[in-house]
Amino acid sequence: MTTVANVPEAATVEFRAQNPDTPNQAAHAASFDAKALRRCLGQFATGVTVVTVQNGDRHEGMAANSFSSVSLDPPLVLWSVRKASRRAEVFSTAPHFVINILAEGQIELANRFATFDGDPFATVPWQADDAGVPVLADVLAHLSCDLETTHDGGDHIIIVGRVRSFSVRDGKPLLFAQGRYGALQEYVQLQAPSAVPATSPDEGDCDVGAYQVMRLLRAAQESLSRSFDVHRKNVGLTALEARMLAVLQAEPGTMQQLAARIFTDEVNTQDVIQRMLKAGLVQCDAHGMCSITEAGNAKREQLRARAREFSAQTLKDLGPEKINIAQQFLTDIVERFSK
Ligand SMILES: Cc1cc2nc3c(=O)[nH]c(=O)nc-3n(C[C@H](O)[C@H](O)[C@H](O)COP(=O)(O)O)c2cc1C
Repeated sequence: MTTVANVPEAATVEFRAQNPDTPNQAAHAASFDAKALRRCLGQFATGVTVVTVQNGDRHEGMAANSFSSVSLDPPLVLWSVRKASRRAEVFSTAPHFVINILAEGQIELANRFATFDGDPFATVPWQADDAGVPVLADVLAHLSCDLETTHDGGDHIIIVGRVRSFSVRDGKPLLFAQGRYGALQEYVQLQAPSAVPATSPDEGDCDVGAYQVMRLLRAAQESLSRSFDVHRKNVGLTALEARMLAVLQAEPGTMQQLAARIFTDEVNTQDVIQRMLKAGLVQCDAHGMCSITEAGNAKREQLRARAREFSAQTLKDLGPEKINIAQQFLTDIVERFSK
């Protein structure tokens, strides 16, 4: 029996295997709620890689976050491929593979390789390593590996590789946790705005001032997002569901297209869509094209109203002049990055 402790929202929820004394591990796994287990495992943050192989005269690539280091001496790494993948055999038998470790901002690249759609190598720049396996351009690091061994890993095949060569460049990694992409922020930058000095130590130093502004922007964004979570919960939506509604209001899409647009993987997207289908917020036709329903539009409007109320409450004592200055400043920042 799966035990769910009767605890207040946001507190710990416990899941136990049906019979914890059963020596048979498969029996254990089967008795878990798979979605709950996935959610639990999703609390562990990972980086994001694209694993590439050569397959005859074709190349294959797959976004994967199951990558892990194993041993320094000998230099071994592993990743695992879902047995249900159409390319499980190709990936688990390729004599050589490359682990491409993605950098911050390479979400589009991850998405290109998370969908089995067209030939990503035709549009993504890459160079072959000494075994002819693609090393993607501008990745944070790459490891060229020789297949060492494979292990059965339940619904996955664990692939162990021996590192033959590697490259590293400076930069920050792309992260994946709780079904979403994220970026690395050094812990010091996660202080609440009140803990961050309002002015630079040296008023005359423009560089330091600019740096403080960036710190404050990040701290403000973090705090706002955290505070707004309550409102999202109150209208009964998770962050991914809210994003899905926004995406679907703009345009319908297939599961693969939606995964890319809400920046998550297909498995998570399916969960989100299933929950929203049940709640009547979305509808999907026989071709797998999903769109927002009237109830979905109403829910989105409800969330928008909350956001307007939240903004007004949060900034109520600023006054129109300061709001205007903030708006101009933030518009300028956003435009710099959208060029
Ligand atoms: C961030 C992220 C991490 C993923 N990690 C893995 C993984 O470790 N192993 C895996 O088999 N699939 C993983 N996937 C899913 C595959 O990238 C995707 O399902 C696959 O490329 C679809 O094609 P296929 O099933 O036809 O091979 C991940 C997807 C994303 C977005």
